[in-house]
Amino acid sequence: MTTIIGISGSLRTGSFNTSLLRAAVDAMPAGATLEIGSIKGIPLYDGDVEATQGLPDAVAKLKERIVAGDGLLLVTPEYNNSIPGVFKNAIDWLSRPDSDIPRVFGNRPVGVIGASPGGFGTLLSQTTWLPVLKTLRTAAYFGGRLQVSRAGDVFDESGNLIDQKIREQLGKYLAGFCEFVAATRRAR
Ligand SMILES: Cc1cc2nc3c(=O)[nH]c(=O)nc-3n(C[C@H](O)[C@H](O)[C@H](O)COP(=O)(O)O)c2cc1C
Repeated sequence: MTTIIGISGSLRTGSFNTSLLRAAVDAMPAGATLEIGSIKGIPLYDGDVEATQGLPDAVAKLKERIVAGDGLLLVTPEYNNSIPGVFKNAIDWLSRPDSDIPRVFGNRPVGVIGASPGGFGTLLSQTTWLPVLKTLRTAAYFGGRLQVSRAGDVFDESGNLIDQKIREQLGKYLAGFCEFVAATRRAR
């Protein structure tokens, strides 16, 4: 069984990206499950807090869930053509202490997808994640891409995925990503 930990980079209740993550749970291929992690409760990174108190509980727990999983799926919004601060902040905390980076991120398969009400479907924020994933020595997945644009038409008011074409694209992306995760795990 392949287990993916998925994290949405939005705190918003009606988040398109959290809706996309929820839709992904149902679109997983046979033999794989997607568990939802959350950045809620992660404070702003502060080196003084780290030095005196260590990792906040929400960070430590999410970190161990990532370690226990086989792959990581980041579902990213786009702010000002880049990564939203709250999402980057969470990954920054998760990368502490840096001696732990190989255990948490090293050669870990990571996929990035995202949704935006605009026309480019988080293309630029997905691209902005690349140097971060490279720095953390992840095994970034490049075998597919999913950029959900015009998200207001793709999800209904309750956050259900109502666009059949996107559902198919999501299923195809996840099938490819899970194959990549399994192959990366075998090679470890
Ligand atoms: C500060 C800010 C900057 C934004 N910049 C962009 C942008 O550069 N490109 C884009 O497609 N959408 C941009 N948006 C719109 C977001 O894509 C939209 O708010 C989206 O719903 C956020 O994701 P969520 O629904 O998962 O919370 C921006 C929104 C905010 C609040």
